[in-house]
Amino acid sequence: MSKGMTDADFTPATAAEVRQLRDQLDAQGKKLVFTNGCFDLLHAGHVRYLADARALGDAMVVALNSDASVRALKGPDRPLNNENDRAEVLCALRAVDVVVVFGDERATSLIEAIRPHVYAKGGDYTVESLNAEERAALQSVGAEIRILPLVPGRSTTATIQKMHAPQGGKLRLAVLGSGIGSNFRAIVDAIQAGKLDAEVVAAISDQKDSGFLAIAKQAGLPAHFVDPGTNPKKLGEAAQKEIFDHLERARVDVVVLAGFMRILKEPVISQYSGRIVNVHPSLLPKHKGAHAVPDALDAGDTEAGCTVHLVTAEIDAGAILEQGRVPVLPGDTAAVLHDRIKQVEHVLLPKVLNEWRERGLAVR
Ligand code: GRF
Repeated sequence: MSKGMTDADFTPATAAEVRQLRDQLDAQGKKLVFTNGCFDLLHAGHVRYLADARALGDAMVVALNSDASVRALKGPDRPLNNENDRAEVLCALRAVDVVVVFGDERATSLIEAIRPHVYAKGGDYTVESLNAEERAALQSVGAEIRILPLVPGRSTTATIQKMHAPQGGKLRLAVLGSGIGSNFRAIVDAIQAGKLDAEVVAAISDQKDSGFLAIAKQAGLPAHFVDPGTNPKKLGEAAQKEIFDHLERARVDVVVLAGFMRILKEPVISQYSGRIVNVHPSLLPKHKGAHAVPDALDAGDTEAGCTVHLVTAEIDAGAILEQGRVPVLPGDTAAVLHDRIKQVEHVLLPKVLNEWRERGLAVR
């Protein structure tokens, strides 16, 4: 077996060797834990996860995706380290007893060959979202399935993005707003206070005389009024394109909708996919749309709040990044409740932006 060999002669174990280990453990009434993954660039999230997984039994095998299967899963630029190196590094961890490399995208046949007692998987999966074939194999060998929480903010993708970020590069933000701009002010204040490592490279509004644009001008930031066109609710095609041009010229990493009351469409939505964030004054998926706060009062909710989420073509429906909660108090009017919600927004939005790369979210 490979554990303890010197690096010159390191070879991962075979499935048959691991099966032998499993049978020995089984005969002693002990349990073999099985987990699988790419483990391309080992980080603290992996190490903690592996220690938690190992604690579920008496020995642990890590089934490591081969180089070809990492490429199939993660794209042509991965893996960063070849399979033997990845196996060797993993095998040096206290939590890992043995490493076996497998070539398929799924670990199904390996699970059938090894018959582990426990199967551990990270919290980016649920029992339901496990691959159906893998789940069936686990059930057929009687393995107990355990989903373990992931360590937030630690991921190989986030690490790679940090390395690609320009030296000392701050996140380049475009902020779009139509109203008084209190969220925009919170962003500007957080940057000035050193709490948000970013710069506002474009402030864009569809309202010429908005408080939002006044804040930008006062702070000496590039401020742009974009004429929305004749329809009072929609943003015309020329305006959509003009906004896109501003974003491109300013080399924007992330587009922040901070009270922007019109719907962004193409070309921005696809070109900036995964890089547009909105703050909405409700606990989504509750109360989508422009009347979220009065809607919460009308519904008799006892709790309200705000959601920071990614923007997709479907209104207020993109992935939720963070939520903040506030109580609804007796006698609340929509204005009073909205002010209470905004206090939370002003903390949450700069926080999410500051953690953008750590969260593994997309940039330019
Ligand atoms: C905020 O409540 C935000 O959730 C919503 O619009 C409001 C903007 O407020 N999308 P402000 O202009 O930032 O003060």
